[in-house]
Amino acid sequence: MHIDPFKLERYFARYEFTAPYLLSSSDCEPLSLNELLSMIHGETMKMWNVLKLGYTESQGHPDLREEIASLYKTVRPGQIMVSAPEEAIFIAMNTLLQEKDEVISTFPAYQSLYEVARSLGCQVKFWKPRYKEGWSFNLKDLEKLMSKKTRMLIINFPHNPTGTTITKKEQEQLLEMAKNFQTIIFSDEMYRYLEYDDGQRLPSMADQYDDAVTLCGMSKSFALAGLRIGWIISKNKDRLEHFLQFKDYTTICNSAPSEILALMGLKAREKILRRNHQIIQTNLEYLDEFFGRHEEIFDWKRPEAGPVVFPGMHKPLDANDFCRDLVEKKGVMLLPPHVYDIEDNHFRIGFARKNLPEALEKLGEYLQENIYNSSHEAG
Ligand SMILES: Cc1ncc(COP(=O)(O)O)c(C=O)c1O
Repeated sequence: MHIDPFKLERYFARYEFTAPYLLSSSDCEPLSLNELLSMIHGETMKMWNVLKLGYTESQGHPDLREEIASLYKTVRPGQIMVSAPEEAIFIAMNTLLQEKDEVISTFPAYQSLYEVARSLGCQVKFWKPRYKEGWSFNLKDLEKLMSKKTRMLIINFPHNPTGTTITKKEQEQLLEMAKNFQTIIFSDEMYRYLEYDDGQRLPSMADQYDDAVTLCGMSKSFALAGLRIGWIISKNKDRLEHFLQFKDYTTICNSAPSEILALMGLKAREKILRRNHQIIQTNLEYLDEFFGRHEEIFDWKRPEAGPVVFPGMHKPLDANDFCRDLVEKKGVMLLPPHVYDIEDNHFRIGFARKNLPEALEKLGEYLQENIYNSSHEAG
């Protein structure tokens, strides 16, 4: 198998553990083990204390699957496979797709969502948002791409990296189209629960469509990325069986401590989500203020949902050069557009980390020293 490098992950590999100011992470401020354990009492704590560090059930711990099922209206524990989120993408694409299949994906995107399909020889088309309309994903654009040849539609709302989402009505229209063409929907819902207003939250595809494959996990909304625990849902028994058969060739089963910690995280979800929403809302105010001060340089559109946003940079400044120079001079990591394989002059900010004010201060210093001062000198 040949697969192209995952540009974003390679970029993180280079800077994530060396740059002191991570201003592009998409996960919420990670919880410490102590913080998580302090939220839990009773039976689950007992499970932790007597946990045996052996192999685990391949499909996922039954109690964890039961807790996951409680997030949905119609999903049963038997319809869930627990795995690392990235692994679930790899497994689902490998088992559901084959050479020459036509696939549509929201774009820009977390690369594996379309790259695995591409590596399998699928024909991949992109559903792109309209920037001038506030990064909106327009259903008319999707309609032009869809046909009865479309095997799979890959969507990700709330969307990484633009911070946009669609409305419930648009979701219904999208669903109608998929039903008409008997298209599988792969719905990446990693940022579900990070909508700024509960009324915005889309019903999960898992509850809407029997032909959906739905991804979610502990990494983003639940601030527990280091557990490497997520889940994939399919109501189609054969498909789920194929996922499980494939998993025997990836990890076989999940880490025993991670499963119990994930169960704790889900049981404490209200507390964790409240904390994460507080961080996000506070940081959004900092971002509004910061970009308000630097309109000459940046094009700021407030995100609609989630922990990431994709601001523009005015030409002739170049966002790729800017991100590289910034991390090297000030240790502030942003994600440049080349990791998303786009020509547009945008970069990704992640704003669910507590040290965002310090990172913005460093960014402000950089602008002063390298952009304002140098343009005054030039002018
Ligand atoms: C949209 C999306 N899907 C899936 C993943 C994979 O999640 P994980 O890193 O927990 O495997 C990510 C991670 O950034 C993501 O942004």
